[in-house]
Amino acid sequence: MDYFAYKSGVLHCEDVDLTALAAACGTPLYVYSAATLRRHYLAMAEAFAPLNPTICFAIKSLANLSILRLLAGLGAGFDVVSGGEIFRAQKAGADMSKVAYAGVGKTDAEILQALAAGVGWFNVESEQEFENLTRLARQVGKTASAALRINPDVDPHTHHHTTTGKKGTKFGVDLDRAEEFFARYGRDANVRLTGIHVHLGSAGHTAEPYGEALTKCLAFIDRLAKKGLTIEAINFGGGYGADYEEGESPTAQEYARQIVPLLAGRGLKVLLEPGRQIGCNAGILLTSVQYLKTGGEKNFAIVDATMCDLIRPALYDAWHFIYPVRLGAGQPEPHRRRDFTPPGAITVDVVGGVCEGSDFLGKDRPLPPLKRGDLLAVFSAGAYGHVMSSQYNARPRAAEVLVEDSAYRIIRRRETYDDLIRGEE
Ligand code: LLP
Repeated sequence: MDYFAYKSGVLHCEDVDLTALAAACGTPLYVYSAATLRRHYLAMAEAFAPLNPTICFAIKSLANLSILRLLAGLGAGFDVVSGGEIFRAQKAGADMSKVAYAGVGKTDAEILQALAAGVGWFNVESEQEFENLTRLARQVGKTASAALRINPDVDPHTHHHTTTGKKGTKFGVDLDRAEEFFARYGRDANVRLTGIHVHLGSAGHTAEPYGEALTKCLAFIDRLAKKGLTIEAINFGGGYGADYEEGESPTAQEYARQIVPLLAGRGLKVLLEPGRQIGCNAGILLTSVQYLKTGGEKNFAIVDATMCDLIRPALYDAWHFIYPVRLGAGQPEPHRRRDFTPPGAITVDVVGGVCEGSDFLGKDRPLPPLKRGDLLAVFSAGAYGHVMSSQYNARPRAAEVLVEDSAYRIIRRRETYDDLIRGEE
């Protein structure tokens, strides 16, 4: 799963003792394991190797430059969704021909930026966007490659906020309109519309919807071929699950079993856009207990991380395993499961100090008895963690640290109060 493990009763990231790291860097603190990032990237690359895919890591899930550089070094391309992410990809030294640019709201300035940067693929999401793209490409004398984002109307069985491939969402063009789209724009001189892009949604826990969507897409590609329109590439998006709870999600091989046999021998260039499956278990959030509040209807562990640092529980009711970094005497190593209850457990809500009822990291958690100053780890926080953080309540964002074996590096310093007012008159 990852390289976060208890050694002599203390949680380590690879060979780094996390109590020592927290003492050196403070809390709240995001800690990433380089070995885990590599492991999950390579698992995906190996599982899909028969298709020789370009793996475009979704920058939106984990955007730190040091991490993007690490993945670029392994051969990753990137999925980007804004001018800012194009900028990040360039700063990380990405091969821009391996960058796919998605998003329903690309502005003229962003499209011009992407054309100048030479991004490999524009994932186009509407008729008007296509017309704007070809107009701007002509204006600056460039050509571009594009994939049409198709909405296959397949349910990935995830939270409605992270469902994208169902009819009625704002994403892509419905399959029944896509044929007409290609008939209209498939022979454009400035923008070669030769790909299709599908992203079903995020954080699902079954691989079958991928097979279902791909079958629909391949039938569509065959229909286009009969009209003399050749599809050269398929970008099959992201959304591959990760284990918030042990064994909860299909592995890279299980996804590959749905996808590889259908695509093998089709001669299509394949792109994949995983974010969560690579980053999720490569990061944790360390936080320390400020106060314990007992005696009321519920018990609370009030910690120094908040919804500003990790908004997923507030936004999606997401479940992250939370556990002390140092195990008490006689305490077993935990299983990262909802039903894990340690001896002598006390049930607490783990909450932050923001003035919102939705500011919680975990509810009704059976934890060993806690005391002020105890360090807790919020697991599986690498993806959609720090990237979604905010300065709400004027709280500086947390620092990020990258661990490699027994060494660590601060890859983003903790924000200061001056960062809070930067840019203000
Ligand atoms: N490609 C496209 C076009 C996407 O929109 C996304 C995610 C991905 C790839 C990567 O998906 P992944 O493999 O990471 O699931 N904030 C939410 C997730 C939103 C995902 C948005 N799009 C969360 O915290 O769960």
